[in-house]
Amino acid sequence: MEKITSKLSAIVSAAFAEAGYDPSLGAVSVSDRADLCQFQCNGALSGAKLYHKAPIMIARDVAEKLSPRAEFSLAEAVPPGFINLSLSDGYLAALVSEISRDENLGVPQCEKPETIVIDYGGPNVAKELHIGHLRSAIIGEALKRTARATGRTVYGDVHFGDWGTPYGLTIAEYKVRHPDWACFREDFDPERDSFPDIDEKELNAIYPFASAKSKEDPEFKAAARQVVVDLQNRKPGIYAIWKKMKDVSVSSVKQIYKRLGVDFDYWYGECDADVFTPELIEILKEKGLLHESEGAQVVDVAEEGDKISVPPIIVKKSDNSSIYATWDLATIIQRERDFKPDRIWYLTDKRQSLHFLQVFRCAKKAGLVPETTELRHLGFGAMTGSDGKPFKTRDGGVLPLKALVETVDGAALEKLKDSEYISGDKTEIAHAIGMAALKFGDMQNQPIKDYIFDIDKFLAFDGKTGTYLLYTVTRINSILKKAGIGYDEPLEYKKITVDGERSLALAVALCGESYERAFEDMNPAALCESAYNIASAFSRFYHDNRILTEENPETRQSWLALCAVTRRTLVKLLDCLGIETVENM
Ligand code: ARG
Repeated sequence: MEKITSKLSAIVSAAFAEAGYDPSLGAVSVSDRADLCQFQCNGALSGAKLYHKAPIMIARDVAEKLSPRAEFSLAEAVPPGFINLSLSDGYLAALVSEISRDENLGVPQCEKPETIVIDYGGPNVAKELHIGHLRSAIIGEALKRTARATGRTVYGDVHFGDWGTPYGLTIAEYKVRHPDWACFREDFDPERDSFPDIDEKELNAIYPFASAKSKEDPEFKAAARQVVVDLQNRKPGIYAIWKKMKDVSVSSVKQIYKRLGVDFDYWYGECDADVFTPELIEILKEKGLLHESEGAQVVDVAEEGDKISVPPIIVKKSDNSSIYATWDLATIIQRERDFKPDRIWYLTDKRQSLHFLQVFRCAKKAGLVPETTELRHLGFGAMTGSDGKPFKTRDGGVLPLKALVETVDGAALEKLKDSEYISGDKTEIAHAIGMAALKFGDMQNQPIKDYIFDIDKFLAFDGKTGTYLLYTVTRINSILKKAGIGYDEPLEYKKITVDGERSLALAVALCGESYERAFEDMNPAALCESAYNIASAFSRFYHDNRILTEENPETRQSWLALCAVTRRTLVKLLDCLGIETVENM
């Protein structure tokens, strides 16, 4: 189904043409002044220059053509040249019914098939997931679901940090601590030799230790360097311990992502990209892009007109080792080969913006992807404590993501303690509510901005919160259950009977607009906004009317149909945000 503003734009464009003006002036948008009208068209203002005519005169000519139409209850020209529009109740109700029958529930589908790779999550081996990993995971998941809802083919790839210096350091330190491990023997044979278990705690603590040590101990640093080379060459013992470390990290990371409702199609890592490094170097050399600078191999990516200084991208360090940027470029080769994506999106915090700018420019210069492929980075702000500083634990440490989830779940459970409405596992319901609160609390903000983690606010039953939205869904559940109506029944919404119903019908009708906006801006806040508008309009409608005891059977049935479609659009919006609903709370 087309989105409402597209339908209206077609009607208004035809009216421009009919009145003798350029139809391309007829674009309609949702009104900035909901108190005056539901939609607006500003085309007459742009038409003024074209036709040497006062915009209000053009607007009047067009409004005259629109007024008699059944779609509108209002089509009015207002100075200096706006056309204010509101839908007739009959048309609005028909639109809501159309959404209810539509297999995509009013979510506009992309015009031509499109493939997107979304690179999000970005965990690292030997590093516990912490709150710095939250936003990439949940925003990435939401964008993946949103893009899928609009009919696109989307692959989520976690892009595990698993290759290079950090793991050389980590393994070198293991060797110091456990010299007896068979993997450190020259004749290690993975078929024959047993392998000790790796303790996850030790694994997560060892890298920072080894990293600090390498700064003071040149001998250790050199040993680690050798390990990197051995790893690169897949020396059996070194590769075996690396593999073991990775398995431990992956299984722990998978558990946490599962708890967060975040899921990937591919678990590729830098190590999988590294096999494309020789091809990358070959291409860069062939194109004459690679040159030496202070011993390193770099590609110039500065462009005329740059407002910031964009240094050359380092592809190989002076010791010929590969780095983060090398693998990002190599990964683009792999993605182009495997998926031929129309877009590749990356989600990390905004401190990596320059890195991605360099990578994208280099990739385009080298022709790793066609000129038309969109390479885009969403750099987001941090979750902070109430002091506006990056969130820290009481002892000043970084909060593990697992602990964050536990804290949120605990707070949600505490809130549910006295609820009598719960049937089923209270802990699991609390978890769903906690995650809804956390995700909505995060994603209702502009991604680029920092936001304050305030669990009490996020969990509040009223206000713009995930809890409020889940609660609204449970209210509708209860109405539909009492009326004996299945949740997914596409019922005919007949007509608007009372005034308070109109804003709910309009909020539902507008849900389709938000998917496109969320997708195009890489910003799930548009979905949050739409879900909140629907929920708060529903609350007003629910407050003012006794739906189940309504005496007129036709009105009652129509209201129930509105409740059902409200529920479905809300649940779909929430699902795209990665938020699961609960039956009751
Ligand atoms: N592992 C990286 C980090 O911790 C994030 C990876 C993001 N994705 C990418 N393709 N570079 O910063």
